[in-house]
This record gives sequence, structure tokens and C-alpha cells, in this order.
Amino acid sequence: MLSAQERARVAQVWDLIAGHEASFGAELLLRLFTVYPSTKSYFKHLGFCPDETQLLTHGQRMLEAVGVAVQHMDNLRAALSPLADLHAQVLRVDPSNFPLLIQCFQVVLASHLQGEFTVEMQAAWDKFLTGVAVVLTEKYR
Ligand code: HEM
Repeated sequence: MLSAQERARVAQVWDLIAGHEASFGAELLLRLFTVYPSTKSYFKHLGFCPDETQLLTHGQRMLEAVGVAVQHMDNLRAALSPLADLHAQVLRVDPSNFPLLIQCFQVVLASHLQGEFTVEMQAAWDKFLTGVAVVLTEKYR
């Protein structure tokens, strides 16, 4: 559960990302596939070039879902329920991949926002993204 202050920090950073979902998302995927090549096995249809349309398209979808989560921080489980079904029951993405994505997400934020991505911002985003990952991986049983 995020405190009011943590929610405000998440929303503040999201305001800087909103409108740039495709480019942030593509960069996130590129980092994920490069730093943790095993993650690429889920995305055989995507390439490694950051301009590639499919990378941008998937990056945009993924970040738009994060945007939905930001709008529904009080009710993540309901807001992300269809996406949780997809990842757990259809895609069967191993839950161990989520911390890798969270780590890359924070590096993307830090490299773009630099000084604005303070220690407190990182702590709030880590908690928020972990909450998203918990919801997306809890339907496996
Ligand atoms: C599909 C979001 C984590 C693998 C998707 C879609 C969204 C999404 C919105 C598209 C759903 C649709 O087309 O209806 C997220 C979010 C994540 C996350 C918000 C975590 C914060 C992961 C991780 C992996 C993964 C860690 C594996 C390393 C996939 C795959 C697809 C997918 C393989 C299908 C791609 C396709 O059909 O082209 N995800 N995802 N996701 N996700 Fe995730």
C-alpha cells in the first residue's frame, strides 16, 4: 500500500512520461532484452532495433498499461485483472522476469530524469511497480 506521498511521487514522474509511452516503452524493452537476453525468448517476433515499429507498438501498449495502473493505484487488482489473466494463463510469463523489467524501468527513468529522479522517487516507483508485478503474477496458482 502506497502512502499519499508515495502516490504523489509516482504521479509526478508519470506526468513526465505521459505522451512519450512508445519511446520510453521501446527503450525499456531494448534494455530488458539486451541486459537480460533470456527475456527475449517471450518476444521472438520483435527485433532489436529501437525504431522498429513492433518494438514501439509493444512498448507503447506496455507503458499505457502502466499509465492505467497509475490512474488506479487504489484498485490495481481490478484495473489490471484482464492483463493478469493474459500474463499468467495465456502467455505464462515466468514471474522471475518481472523484477528484471522493474530494474530496467528504473534505469530508463533515471537516465531520462536524472536529478529529478530522486531517491524518494525511486523508492516510490519501486514499490508501485512491485505492486503491479504482484497483481500480474498472482493468478498462476
Ligand atoms: C503483452 C503489459 C510484464 C511479456 C502485454 C500487453 C500489455 C502488457 C499491455 C499487451 C496486451 C494485449 O495486447 O492485449 C505489461 C506490464 C508489465 C508486463 C504492465 C509489467 C509491469 C511483462 C514481462 C514479460 C511480458 C516481465 C516477459 C518478460 C509479454 C508478452 C506479451 C505481453 C510476451 C505478448 C506480446 C505480443 O503478443 O506481441 N504486456 N507486461 N510482459 N507481455 Fe507484458
